[in-house]
Amino acid sequence: MATKQLELHQSVVKFLSNAPKKMLINGQFVQSVSGKTFETINPATGEVITKVYEADKEDIEKAVKAARVAFEGPWKKVPPNQRQMLLLKLADLIEKNAEELAQLETLDNGKPIRESRAVDVPVTADHFRYYAGWATKIHGETIPVSCGNFLTYTLREPVGVVGQIIPWNFPLLMAAWKIAAAVACGNCVVLKPAEQTPLTALRLGELIMEAGFPAGVINICPGFGETAGAALSGHMDVDKVAFTGEYITGRKIIQASAGNLKRVSLELGGKAPNIVFVDGDMEAAVKGCIGSVFFNQGQVCCAGTRLFVENKIYDEFISKVSDRAGKLTLGPGLCEETQMGPLVSSDQLKRVTGYLETGKKEGAKPVCGGDRATDGDLQKGYFVKPTVFANVNNKMKIAQEEIFGPVVSAIPFKDIEDVITQGNDTTYGLSAGIWTKDIKKAHAVAKAIKAGTVWINCYNVFDSAAPFGGYKQSGFGREGGIHALELYTQIKAVWVNLD
Ligand code: NAI
Ligand code: MG
Repeated sequence: MATKQLELHQSVVKFLSNAPKKMLINGQFVQSVSGKTFETINPATGEVITKVYEADKEDIEKAVKAARVAFEGPWKKVPPNQRQMLLLKLADLIEKNAEELAQLETLDNGKPIRESRAVDVPVTADHFRYYAGWATKIHGETIPVSCGNFLTYTLREPVGVVGQIIPWNFPLLMAAWKIAAAVACGNCVVLKPAEQTPLTALRLGELIMEAGFPAGVINICPGFGETAGAALSGHMDVDKVAFTGEYITGRKIIQASAGNLKRVSLELGGKAPNIVFVDGDMEAAVKGCIGSVFFNQGQVCCAGTRLFVENKIYDEFISKVSDRAGKLTLGPGLCEETQMGPLVSSDQLKRVTGYLETGKKEGAKPVCGGDRATDGDLQKGYFVKPTVFANVNNKMKIAQEEIFGPVVSAIPFKDIEDVITQGNDTTYGLSAGIWTKDIKKAHAVAKAIKAGTVWINCYNVFDSAAPFGGYKQSGFGREGGIHALELYTQIKAVWVNLD
């Protein structure tokens, strides 16, 4: 257990002292129309960090209007190379303020500071840089047609005003995933951060203004799903909504989109099979399994939560994984040694511990962890022990439903056919892992698994250039790489009569 916490950077203290935190609408930090605020909680202690003005329907209305005005006017006049410069400047500012952002993220979300520093913040900066590169390379084509003497060409144009609704597991990084591609393509954005973790998005808003983005191009409105989120996804002047979160919310977003038939893209979580064959590099697979399931306290949509292990090595492998899991250092995210922090909220704690009870009732055996961690100060926060369930079969609830906590369900399998059948026996299809030295087998399984990302002899590897998204009920649309440009642009065909 880690206990000694680092002292907050003075810029974090300064950011928090100016409260309640205001939302970003039309280039200004403003209060909510209603004057209402909500509290954001430190999940390591259960204490209030600060208050934040709460966006509701009227605030979303203002933000969408500002985005529309910016889109039809000033933002259209900004040429691609200036969009690029703005995004590059923002990336530089993120790097310049990296330690502050990392601490703020850890404070609000709970994740280990080492992860905020090594992953969330640098990958965020990289994402803005990557899409800055695209801003000057988005173009149409000329098309040789056979039906007559025409010059036929296409224009690839931005969609317009985009509503973006993000979750709490990677608050800053998800904001970057959403904003960078949309803005590079020339859209204007209204972003609704998750109510559990609004702080880094608001600090990002300050950096966005410091970078020099025109007013209204990026608006950031923290609030709750049923109010601000619903207003945004149902808004008749929003052209597209991009969402990451639970599949049930995804369904609501689709329903809300019907009014003006706005475009929708959804990233909805998963129940990934992580498949270990007897011929895999066992040490690497153990390490990969630990990373796949305990990174970010398991609150990761692509976490390898269904660990399929070939019969012959099942017991040995599970014992190695649970040995290692049991040694993870649990503690507040602000301790340098912490390897696993608290879950994000008391709701999430309830949900995860509920699944731990369900798993035990279903007959699964917790060979490591299995309950809440309450040693010393941990009892104040939302800590759950890293948990490895053995004796799981793929029909159990803990093997079918997304737990979103540090819990892995280990399932034995017989052979390649068996693991493909079981691996695909899920409503989700976001990701998968395969551990084997047999390249034929690796490619055969990669092809057969219905998932948007497959990692072979690695797990949770990301790059701004690679697409990410789901098959089946994990959603549709791909973020990352060139594919995100499809989400945020539309094509116009122009015909010129040359006769
Ligand atoms: P959620 O889907 O309710 O929340 C995600 C975002 O959607 C938040 O910004 C929330 O305010 C917003 N939202 C909620 N209801 C909405 C509505 N009716 N209209 C528009 N926006 C709405 O997810 P929640 O409740 O925070 O977590 C529940 C479970 O969802 C987790 O335990 C996990 O299994 C899954 N989840 C999956 C994520 C992923 O990365 N795919 C991220 C977060 C949660
Ligand atoms: Mg919810």
